[in-house]
Amino acid sequence: MSMDHGMEPSPVQPPPDRRRSHVYRRIAAGLTGGLAVGAFAIVAVTMAGPASAATTLGGGAEAHGRYFGTAVSASRLSNTALTNVAGTQFDMMTPENDMKWDTIQPAQSTFNFGPGDQIVSFARSHNQRLRGHNLVWHSQLPGWVSSLPTNQVQAAMENHITMEVNHFRGLFAWDVVNEPFNEDGSLRSDPFLTAMGTGYIADALRTAHAADANAKLYINDFNIEANNTAKSNAMFNLAQSLLSQGAPLNGIGFESHFIQGQIPSSLQANMQRFANLGLDVAITELDVRMPTANPNLNGQANDFVSVVNACLAVSRCVGITQWNVGDADSWVPGTFSGQGLATMFDNNYQPKPAFNAVLNLLNMGVTTTPTTTRPQTTPPGTTPPVTTPPPTTGPPGACTATYTPVNAWPTGFQANITVTAGSTAINAWTLTWTLSSGQTITQLWNGALTVSGTSVTVKNLSYNGSIPAGGNTTLGFTANGAPSTPTIRCTSP
Ligand code: XIL
Repeated sequence: MSMDHGMEPSPVQPPPDRRRSHVYRRIAAGLTGGLAVGAFAIVAVTMAGPASAATTLGGGAEAHGRYFGTAVSASRLSNTALTNVAGTQFDMMTPENDMKWDTIQPAQSTFNFGPGDQIVSFARSHNQRLRGHNLVWHSQLPGWVSSLPTNQVQAAMENHITMEVNHFRGLFAWDVVNEPFNEDGSLRSDPFLTAMGTGYIADALRTAHAADANAKLYINDFNIEANNTAKSNAMFNLAQSLLSQGAPLNGIGFESHFIQGQIPSSLQANMQRFANLGLDVAITELDVRMPTANPNLNGQANDFVSVVNACLAVSRCVGITQWNVGDADSWVPGTFSGQGLATMFDNNYQPKPAFNAVLNLLNMGVTTTPTTTRPQTTPPGTTPPVTTPPPTTGPPGACTATYTPVNAWPTGFQANITVTAGSTAINAWTLTWTLSSGQTITQLWNGALTVSGTSVTVKNLSYNGSIPAGGNTTLGFTANGAPSTPTIRCTSP
């Protein structure tokens, strides 16, 4: 495949909150010896250090309600230097190649799930979640698909998706459509576009959703990381269009195969505009390559920190995946001539400066308070929150709270709470509940959180206190520990 990653950094976007970006600059300077980096806002408002510092990327990310993943091929599972790092440092796994079409269905109706199953079993035995990668892609596509008469491609695609998603049912997420765009923002010509037109994307999403309604469904691409380029705008327009059609799209994956020194300064702003559509975003294939003859490992550490910071600053950025485990198994040297050293672990799987910088960053600020600039997470198509205070105020008890589990993984869970006003409008609300043993809230959005021992209190923020009679507003949180169904009391004011 040809990949042109010679992107120009786009102009610096003003950070949403200059005060926080100043905090970030101090952190970055401390981490990396004062090397200049772009302006990124850190999400933490309170800089409370965690009780004990994480020693793994996955543990550090979990303190922020995120994951840190890696990508491994089944053929490398016998390499213990690799698997020791893969199994301990990361809490998310992407099969690098083993769930691609050419492995899964090399000949029509001949399915080969073995290598993918090996990756799943490795991930499960190391308490890792999985991102399925990928269902529909022009590359690593066996010749029989390209040779099909166009009137048979849709059935073949739907069958492939159904068989594969059914087999691996229970994964956290799927890259349903991979790399659909050309650099100029036009859709890439492949057997799916030729046979079905643009509609193949919505059809693929619907087919995957029918096979596993709980998996988060993504479109994934590279060179969409900078804001306002032809390709990232094309992805943005596609996402908007799919959501307006009601297609089951949950997120956008930003591959993030970067060149050292060229992290787009608008990465955070770009992810945020997708998040504002009501989508999750994820860094799915991060690496930072450089000429092997002229390495700059400290510069690379800055670059990794910039990317992780951008994800931490976007509340709907669910996590980061590094593509491969170390420089020895990285795809970069085999793909980009003269380039390499693109991961956080060296050829012997020892940590590089980038690893230490990212781990320090993750240990520095644990988000316990939401930013006031955090956008609403109202899904598209639902009524936007009311911003004008209604004339009357309800009495105490004039609201109810409904708890909805969203997701669970071995070490934590995510839930939404919907606050509904009774027969009278309210202009403030307070929720209280008790944490079960071992639960800690790692992140909460659309509310002001106070935790005292096991007592949780959440009050409305300025923009979502007013709820009209019978109306509602939704907040959410992520937590460490085992899920439970708490009894939540709602009072107003
Ligand atoms: C790459 C793998 O890392 C290689 O081993 C393989 O030979 C080619 O594919 N974008 C993607 C990934 O979505 O699937 C690609 O993985 C890297 C670019």
